[in-house]
Amino acid sequence: MKARILGTGSYLPEHVLTNDDMAKLVETSDEWIRERTGIRERHLTDEGTVFMAAKAAERALENSHLTADDLDMIIVATFTPDYLFPNASCQLQAAIGAPNIPCMDLSAACSGFIYSINTAAAYIQAGMYQKILVVAAETLSRVVDWDDRSTCILFGDGAGAAVLGADETGILAMDMGSDGVKGPVLYCEGWPITNPVVNKGAAGKLRMNGQEVYKFAVRRLPKTIQTVLASGDMKVEDVDHFIFHQANKRILEAAAKHLKIPAEKMPMNMDHCGNLSAASIPVLLDEYNQAGKIKTGDKVILAAFGGGLSWASALLEW
Ligand code: UT7
Repeated sequence: MKARILGTGSYLPEHVLTNDDMAKLVETSDEWIRERTGIRERHLTDEGTVFMAAKAAERALENSHLTADDLDMIIVATFTPDYLFPNASCQLQAAIGAPNIPCMDLSAACSGFIYSINTAAAYIQAGMYQKILVVAAETLSRVVDWDDRSTCILFGDGAGAAVLGADETGILAMDMGSDGVKGPVLYCEGWPITNPVVNKGAAGKLRMNGQEVYKFAVRRLPKTIQTVLASGDMKVEDVDHFIFHQANKRILEAAAKHLKIPAEKMPMNMDHCGNLSAASIPVLLDEYNQAGKIKTGDKVILAAFGGGLSWASALLEW
């Protein structure tokens, strides 16, 4: 028994902030951002994480020809929930009218969607649950430092979703890992400790050593892809689509060059939504799926890297 992606959905908020708009906020230019990252514009929400998650979830259910009543579990990947509790997945359950099933959030930054589908797959393969909704939703605009030009230009808000179900084919191999020692190169502190004995400042903002993350990503991405290929006994040529975390065009092109992945097999969408952290892969996967680009039986590799530092990949049959 395997866990198969039955359908996908996504949601990007209406408000768009172009690179030229960004240049009015910090000292930057459309040319610099496009050349260094491939990003042209990003979407910003005024509704929050659960609102976007619900839109993406409803679209994924529709695409799977299922309703919320069919679900056995909900997992939401996010590090920008609207509330500390109830968790985003319980709020999502209420928003879409799902029954009293287990709902949990999973926090693994940009690797969160793949960690979540791999977790869902483990439950399905164990025979514990049949249909699991996995949603990745991020309101990154809430944690970005809008005065820091080296980070605020990179991120956007959005949500992507997939419904996984028990089937004869689906996820064939997975790889997950992390290196907490390197955590300080990409982080966002949580709430300050403020109590009668200590006052430790304000809520955290996203901080990043861009060059260190860049070096980590260009080395780790090919490694995790090679790991799932080896586990699935396949070669790069056997895979039809490579759907990667949309952090930076140059990182993806470097990985593609290293592994000899043809450009037409590696779609990118960071130009119109920026880096969506955990939501990045399911949003791209949905755009690609809805465009009819993925056919039944195609082999797909999903791969991500990010805060933790963490990485994850999955090899699947569509
Ligand atoms: O989900 C994972 C999260 N993160 C990533 O994947 C990020 C990985 N890293 C990167 O993508 C790149 O490191 C960046 C795009 C963030 C930066 O590109 P870079 O080529 O590494 O630039 P840099 O940090 O070496 O900075 C080059 C110059 C600096 O000026 P000086 O010191 O050469 O005068 C920066 O101050 O560019 C300057 N700079 C900017 N200039 C215009 C930094 N940000 C900007 C900006 N506009 N937005």
